Amino acid sequence: MAKLKKPDPQALLDWYDRHRRALPWRAPKGRRSDPYAVWLSEIMLQQTTVPAVKPYYEKFLSLWPRVENLAAASSDDVMKAWAGLGYYSRARNLHACAQMVARDYAGRFPDTEEGLRALPGIGPYTAAAIAAIAFGRHAVVVDGNVERVVARLVMIEEPMPKAKPAIKEAAAKLWPAERSGDFAQALMDLGATLCSPRRPTCSLCPFFGACKAAAAQDAERFPVRAPKAARPARQGAVFFVERADGAVLVRTRAPKGLLGGMTEIPGTPWLDDFDIETCASHAPLKAEFTRLMGDVEHVFTHFSLRLGVFVAQVPSRMRAPEGMRFVAGDELDGEALPSLMRKVVAHARAAKSKPATKSRKRR
Ligand code: ADE
Repeated sequence: MAKLKKPDPQALLDWYDRHRRALPWRAPKGRRSDPYAVWLSEIMLQQTTVPAVKPYYEKFLSLWPRVENLAAASSDDVMKAWAGLGYYSRARNLHACAQMVARDYAGRFPDTEEGLRALPGIGPYTAAAIAAIAFGRHAVVVDGNVERVVARLVMIEEPMPKAKPAIKEAAAKLWPAERSGDFAQALMDLGATLCSPRRPTCSLCPFFGACKAAAAQDAERFPVRAPKAARPARQGAVFFVERADGAVLVRTRAPKGLLGGMTEIPGTPWLDDFDIETCASHAPLKAEFTRLMGDVEHVFTHFSLRLGVFVAQVPSRMRAPEGMRFVAGDELDGEALPSLMRKVVAHARAAKSKPATKSRKRR
């Protein structure tokens, strides 16, 4: 094997200057980004991809151009604007953070990692990212893309997530004193483009000749993954009740926990040993329910879910049971409906005319 060069941070920065992705939260070359824009994008990018984030980022900035505007918004409006992005505790923390910055910091984000970490929803990664990108601080920023690049560069054999401290240490050794925010985003862009999880394009990489895994023609194996534990499967049912005037029955979930504070179609608990034949007792009101053909499936981080969908038509005069409400059909899209519930609504609407089984549930 040819002798490897030392990785050259400047080579990566030069590559970034030529190939960086144009992203809406990035300032033009050589300028520093607005901390509010950086913070907003970093919160949205936690566990979500760049293409999925872009439209949400633009919507938030046009609705609330400054942190004070976001702080003054109602939490209902924030949850509605966030609906579909997932991991909803991020939206609640985002709002709490905006309120704290507006109230306690006169609308200015703290400019150090330590100061940023005192804010709701800002952990070590996000604090480092904001400190580096918005304030030019020297901070080692390690997200999933950066992990992949560094694990390959120095060929870390330890499996994830145990390899994280070694990766951080190797990243810190590499990190230049200047242009910390650009260096972070350069690693992110490299990980998102050339240094992809599968079939990386090593020959075009600015670290080619310095990357141990590429030299061993084994880049794809890194970072090494421990075998995945199986995801438990849960089941449940939902009851899509539509009034003759098109209004749909919904309720708001408890404020804490999974999908906390979001709008949902009423249904059963989600269980490992769910028996759909016995779910009638969970129907929100007395009506003739028909089970639709095909279930709705969704994957959460810690379990997968399959929901049977029951539909019923009720008269326009029907009142919502306690704790629930009817929402006009054309206003349902504007509700804080998580992706799972959007799938339920789409399924119920698409399948409305094609009921499958005649299993009737009355209560
Ligand atoms: N992922 C997280 N933060 C990012 C950023 N600033 N640019 C590109 N991808 C990112």
